[in-house]
Amino acid sequence: SRRVDFVVVSNRLPVDHVVDDDGTERWQPSPGGLVTALSPVMATNDGAWVGWPGRADLDLDEFDADGLHLVPVRLSSDEVDRYYEGFSNDTLWPLYHDVIAPPHYHREWWEAYVAVNERFAAAAASIAAEGATVWVQDYQLQLVPRMLREARPDLTIGFFNHIPFPPYGIYSQLPWRTQIVEGLLGADVVGFQRPADARNFQSAVRRLTTATTSQTAIRLPDGRRLVAKAYPISIDSASYEQLARRPDIRERARQIREDLGNPKVVMLGVDRLDYTKGIGHRLKAFGELLAEGRVSVEDVTLVQVATPSRERVDAYRQLRDEIELTVGRINGDYGTISHQAISYLHHGFPREEMVALCLAADVMLVTALRDGMNLVAKEYVAVRHDGDGVLVLSEFTGAADELKTSLRVNPHDIDGLKDAIVQAIEMPQAERRRRMRAMRKRVLEFDVAYWSSTFLRELAASKNP
Ligand code: G6P
Repeated sequence: SRRVDFVVVSNRLPVDHVVDDDGTERWQPSPGGLVTALSPVMATNDGAWVGWPGRADLDLDEFDADGLHLVPVRLSSDEVDRYYEGFSNDTLWPLYHDVIAPPHYHREWWEAYVAVNERFAAAAASIAAEGATVWVQDYQLQLVPRMLREARPDLTIGFFNHIPFPPYGIYSQLPWRTQIVEGLLGADVVGFQRPADARNFQSAVRRLTTATTSQTAIRLPDGRRLVAKAYPISIDSASYEQLARRPDIRERARQIREDLGNPKVVMLGVDRLDYTKGIGHRLKAFGELLAEGRVSVEDVTLVQVATPSRERVDAYRQLRDEIELTVGRINGDYGTISHQAISYLHHGFPREEMVALCLAADVMLVTALRDGMNLVAKEYVAVRHDGDGVLVLSEFTGAADELKTSLRVNPHDIDGLKDAIVQAIEMPQAERRRRMRAMRKRVLEFDVAYWSSTFLRELAASKNP
């Protein structure tokens, strides 16, 4: 059977299930940033992608789609409950995001996590050629590096954590904290979004294992070395900018403003509906500004896109209820027949529509309480080729490390957030342009291709003698 030199392993395969008009079902590549960045690497290296097709009990063979060789990993519906919704998204996700929601610890979830990680490792091991490079993605698969190394010591193994890695005081809650750290230590390079995440990981390594660390290097008791450091992820900036220049998309942006009643200021939030995103804090700040008369619905409107996410997990259901209650109250209290305070959209949109929304928005609000990177912030910047627009950005995002001329906010400080929103609304054009110019320089130069090539270069260089 087929063997390849380069393997990406992620929980989800980069494909969407589509049903055509005539009822035939097929898989269509989903154009995420990771695929865009890795497709050229896949093509030059003869690569494969190992992942879950996103639905329980689906038994698919390997297949090719748009030049990608895809290796589906099957999950039973019990495993979707315990490994995906349970351990990944109701234990690790809240724990790694500073326990914004309480993590739940269940041994059956952990056992499913181990079993599923073993299946991903086995799938990667059987498709990887002798001496191949395997790049494992994200928190759902932290045991895979060590499992793979045990099965296949010939491989070069990278791991990238897309979400934060918490301080030890929080991380130490995890009953399986040692196993997870040992799982990650199976890699040759462990990448994180921010230097702070890499430091938190190093400190967990020192507390829980006999490995020693010095700066970004880790030395294991058997003499093997690995690297743990920050490689901030980015987007395919040029493709966003290109979309933003398309006449039909610019026309759509104009249309959106007109449909909103041509207010003086359009503010925008775009998030997965997730408790880490601080959507409630943002709504509270806007609601208070309206209540105090510091902004009026005639002048300012907020468009909030909240993409449905992980809807079977309790914390996400509760969040949806809370957000929708708050939106309803604010619209009820301050809206008029002609002007809504908030246009709330609980669905995903194609990339074209997102770009049009960004073009239409004078102010982008990113108020996450904790976020590994936050690519929406970078997308807004890449789209604004006109050099205008204000980004309000939470200091608790990885993006805040890079986008230093954004209007930085602490979303827990509602009064500070309100002041920043007013400042954004009133900011003189010269200042908007100066701030945006610096951010655009950063986002256009350090794109997702830079991220993947930097990581893969260091991974190739890390190979132990
Ligand atoms: C975050 C995670 C990804 C995940 C995505 C969507 O960005 O870092 O690993 O794929 O959210 O979440 P979902 O659970 O739908 O895959």
